[in-house]
Amino acid sequence: MSINGFSKLSKEEKIEWLATQHFSNPEDGIATLKKYWNSDLQLQNLHDEFIENTISNYYLPIGIAPNFLINGKTYTIPMAIEESSVVAAASKAAKFWAKRGGFTAQVIDTEKIGQVHFNFYGAFNKLELLFDTYKSRFFEDTLHITQNMQKRSGGIIDIQLLNQSHKLPNYYQLHATFNTVDSMGANFINTCLEQFAKTLVALAEQETSFTEEEKNIQIIMSILSNYVPNCLVRAKVSCPVEDLADKKISNPQEYAEKFVNAVKIAEVETYRAVTHNKGIMNGVDAVVIATGNDFRAIEAGAHAYAAKNGMYSSLSHASVENGIFTFWMDIPLALGTVGGLTSLHPMVKIALEILGKPNAKELMEIIAVAGLAQNFAALNSLTTTGIQQGHMKMHLMNILNQFEATETEKKKAIKHFETETVTHAGVVRFLENLRK
Ligand code: MEV
Repeated sequence: MSINGFSKLSKEEKIEWLATQHFSNPEDGIATLKKYWNSDLQLQNLHDEFIENTISNYYLPIGIAPNFLINGKTYTIPMAIEESSVVAAASKAAKFWAKRGGFTAQVIDTEKIGQVHFNFYGAFNKLELLFDTYKSRFFEDTLHITQNMQKRSGGIIDIQLLNQSHKLPNYYQLHATFNTVDSMGANFINTCLEQFAKTLVALAEQETSFTEEEKNIQIIMSILSNYVPNCLVRAKVSCPVEDLADKKISNPQEYAEKFVNAVKIAEVETYRAVTHNKGIMNGVDAVVIATGNDFRAIEAGAHAYAAKNGMYSSLSHASVENGIFTFWMDIPLALGTVGGLTSLHPMVKIALEILGKPNAKELMEIIAVAGLAQNFAALNSLTTTGIQQGHMKMHLMNILNQFEATETEKKKAIKHFETETVTHAGVVRFLENLRK
């Protein structure tokens, strides 16, 4: 059933409407929604105001993966994620590599991008001359927006006029690059772009050498790009092959070769690459969410980067050369540690504190490492025991909760499945026997 003016209703009224329209048991539905309200009214209000039409809160667990040695410093990494095995896998990978020199990470560049897309009906060389003559106007007209950013050593890096009319008739662009320092910078970039658009329209209107058609520039849109191939960070682990030896790795040479092979498959095979990169994003997104960053932007940018050569491929790479095993990844990460949710959401503040209040560059390094660690953990399981062993062990608790197992039943089940393969049917059978 549709409704007019829903956003104007109070929260109680919204829930009331929802309950009568959508819940088979309105009382239970309302009770569930309210159970997730926070009793701290100020905190609840904060969350209510993040979005429109808030009816309740949606919890994700936040866990921590300790012992991450990155560039010689030990980090405890907060991860907000619902998938059972991710935090455990990250912790395991962190521990494994801490004994082998740890991770290294290095920011390659931090350039952000924004574009004004517009239509121009005339000769490109005339537009180009106008742009080149008045380019400084774009910087001057945005000074009131960029001043603060400039104080922090950021701002507009460059603006280019691009002829895109070979792609679409009459289509041109202002392609601008930015340094937004410790903020993700979306609002800053979009505000600058909207001013660029105004400046461009005004310049064309006033240009006496332009025909009436040329004076009439049509702005289509002004928006940042989430494709940031030059906002890039590299994470890496490396050690002599024989040092890979571990309780579970008795033949490190064979292990390393199989591992490299698994990465090469993801480099050449898109079906595998997507899952391989999904595993990387398990680690990346969990920290991106914990630190209040925009995981959709990060996802979109990372996957576009994975397809930069025309075929979707692995973000990570591995080699064994001269007896040295190396595993690394370059990933674009446009992140912020100031602005946005970072100063608003109490859990985000805590997450940043756990990380030692990093700046944006340091956070890029930490998150790239979390992604690489996750990828290492997944490939380690896939090429040795198989993924299900670890996955299902972690999933056991979910199945037990689904069947409302008591604490005693849980303890017995955990003990039993230490030596048995966890399957959904197996757990159900175990509970049924226990309850007979
Ligand atoms: C599951 O969330 C992630 C994996 O499928 C990643 C991979 O296959 O590399 C285990």
